[in-house]
Amino acid sequence: MTSEPSLLKTLCGLSLSTKTMSAGMLLEVWSPSLGKVILVPSFQPRFTSMVEILDAKTREKLCFLDKVEPQATIAEIKNLFTKSHPQWYPARQSLRLDPKGKSLKDEDVLQKLPVGTTATLYFRDLGAQISWVTVFLTEYAGPLFIYLLFYFRVPFIYGHRYDFTSSRHTVVHLACICHSFHYVKRLLETLFVHRFSHGTMPLRNIFKNCTYYWGFAAWMAYYINHPLYTPPTYGAQQVKLALAIFVICQLGNFSIHMALRDLRPAGSKTRKIPYPTKNPFTWLFLLVSCPNYTYEVGSWIGFAIMTQCLPVALFSLVGFTQMTIWAKGKHRSYLKEFRDYPPLRMPIIPFLL
Ligand SMILES: NC(=O)c1ccc[n+]([C@@H]2O[C@H](COP(=O)([O-])OP(=O)(O)OC[C@H]3O[C@@H](n4cnc5c(N)ncnc54)[C@H](OP(=O)(O)O)[C@@H]3O)[C@@H](O)[C@H]2O)c1
Repeated sequence: MTSEPSLLKTLCGLSLSTKTMSAGMLLEVWSPSLGKVILVPSFQPRFTSMVEILDAKTREKLCFLDKVEPQATIAEIKNLFTKSHPQWYPARQSLRLDPKGKSLKDEDVLQKLPVGTTATLYFRDLGAQISWVTVFLTEYAGPLFIYLLFYFRVPFIYGHRYDFTSSRHTVVHLACICHSFHYVKRLLETLFVHRFSHGTMPLRNIFKNCTYYWGFAAWMAYYINHPLYTPPTYGAQQVKLALAIFVICQLGNFSIHMALRDLRPAGSKTRKIPYPTKNPFTWLFLLVSCPNYTYEVGSWIGFAIMTQCLPVALFSLVGFTQMTIWAKGKHRSYLKEFRDYPPLRMPIIPFLL
């Protein structure tokens, strides 16, 4: 050991050595030829790994991190990368072992990855990000508000003489209560129930999702609250049956969300196999991987029967298609992640799909 400081150079001026520095031991100087040079006293613990970050599309070298601690997580590496490329904040970064492979998780640890002493990671820019909570609140507040505009028949929708008039059909009022209840429930669940593992999603998704939710809400509301709307063929019987389906499915959906929440301790990203609890609504976990989607589809089918309105049926169909795709993906992940995953389960529809 000498008392001379050793030179720790990084192409993008970054090193995880800062993590183990004692206060005041890091000296930084700037050299135009070397980039930022960090002077590290020689008594520092030994470092073993190096990380180079290449652009996944062009293979251009974006960053070289010299002597990274093997215990460093991907989240820490992302933070270091951000220091040299501030435009790519951590939530925007996808780091992979293969240019076309899956993104590594933030909690993945460098020494547990199949890499040598120089790890090559491929970077992809995920685009501007927005928080999930903002996305959900925007997505769900929109339909709630839009539907009510039609329900109260504000001017410029149905013609002047219908402004602020009210429908004479009970089912129209009931439909408004159900629709509003559904979205208030979702807003409250987003704020107080769900424990998301991802903080953000790409900003562009919000435009797509809002067009979908807001557009369908306006289309459905226009017909249901139309002054010429005709109530369902089988009258009160049909409405009562539909209401029962809707309420049961809303309770079921809420119960599953609570069960999923209980799987994950606050602040963690743990994923576990969900199992039925004492609550009978959760027993659907015996047969499907995503019963919350099953119940969600059921709610919309109930709403379609209640209103006997074609746009509602189409919304249910599109929602069902989308949720089936997601449910299949989640089901596959469960099978891959958990060897003891219950074999009887299907993604979304018991015994079928
Ligand atoms: N009408 C429609 O078109 C439509 C479409 C989609 C959703 N929705 C509604 O929105 C609700 C939420 O949708 P979503 O896609 O976010 O549902 P989801 O993927 O089932 O997730 C619900 C919550 O549970 C967590 N979670 C899921 N599986 C988990 C596990 N095995 N262990 C621990 N936590 C787990 C999720 O965390 P992560 O962040 O880790 O995923 C998330 O916070 C749905 O249930 C449905 O009611 C409606």
